[in-house]
Amino acid sequence: MRHPEKVELGFFPTPIHRLEKLSKKYPYNLFIKRDDLTGLAFGGNKTRKLEYLIADALDKGARAVITEGAAQSNHARQTAAAARKYGLEPHLILFKPEPREFDGNLLLDMFFGAKIHWTDKDSLYKERLNIMGVIRDCHGQDPYFIPMGGSNEIGLWGYIDAIDELKTQTELSGQKIDYIVFASSSGGTHAGMIIGKKLYDLEAQIIGIEIDKNMYPDKTVKQHIKTIINYARQEFDLPIDLNDQDITLISGYSEAGYGVVTDLEKNAIYTLAQEEGILLDPVYTGRAFGALLDLLGKVYFPKGSNILFWHTGGQPALFAYRNDLFTKHIPGKDNKDLV
Ligand SMILES: Cc1ncc(COP(=O)(O)O)c(C=O)c1O
Repeated sequence: MRHPEKVELGFFPTPIHRLEKLSKKYPYNLFIKRDDLTGLAFGGNKTRKLEYLIADALDKGARAVITEGAAQSNHARQTAAAARKYGLEPHLILFKPEPREFDGNLLLDMFFGAKIHWTDKDSLYKERLNIMGVIRDCHGQDPYFIPMGGSNEIGLWGYIDAIDELKTQTELSGQKIDYIVFASSSGGTHAGMIIGKKLYDLEAQIIGIEIDKNMYPDKTVKQHIKTIINYARQEFDLPIDLNDQDITLISGYSEAGYGVVTDLEKNAIYTLAQEEGILLDPVYTGRAFGALLDLLGKVYFPKGSNILFWHTGGQPALFAYRNDLFTKHIPGKDNKDLV
């Protein structure tokens, strides 16, 4: 087995702690792993992937990196920060429409001096080639391309390491974890966790909550997860096999569409903030934690299970989504006016 090189970007291990009040409300022991505290430019799951992707970019002698995503992409914000730390010029292809105000992640992208290229998602492939051509003409070489979400056979190593980290933490604390629940979107976090579970004999079952059902135009997220695991197996000689049953991706919570805030996300954000003092984000962790609360209510897990919610960050988007999130009532709760 071959292990790729990485650079340092974050602060690890990230903490794990119990959700005390929610564990009293539900017949479960609930824990949270705080990858919102990885430290790079407000943190998030992309820090772990970028440690490998930036190392690969430097190894290939790149002078610029380019990636793509939604206007409020957390991945784009963290890529811009990581690139600057290692002397690379960050280029971001962001999907139109260009908002009138630069807020949330977009405001942060600007601080990092990211070069932003507004593009129609429908013509992404063609526009990406054009933009890469322009950068090539300027630098005399191709920029290093990081796919959406950093989800390829290099980026997923961040979450192989993360499972090793979790295993060590739980062995030291003696706390058994039965289920891990988290937001799965472009699939790299999920793929890395699945490989890590196999390599490090983690007992916990890994359950991704699908965030975007139209993530890829030509394949499902599950297919993408399989593809990048298989690439990684070949490229790095990983001593693992892969079966369909290894990938648990719950898809029923993505119907509203990517980035559409419904009562599910609002309820999750207000609940975790008011019960535990922890912030979720409106797009990913809000949806995934909302799904977890729903599953807890439906007794999806055996009672008494130890369930860990893996917080993957994203909070800068709270500010850009303020109009969707502001509410006088916590949805689904019979509460008095908040303001
Ligand atoms: C905050 C947050 N959580 C979860 C995810 C999903 O991770 P992945 O794309 O690796 O599936 C993302 C992806 O952008 C994210 O920004």
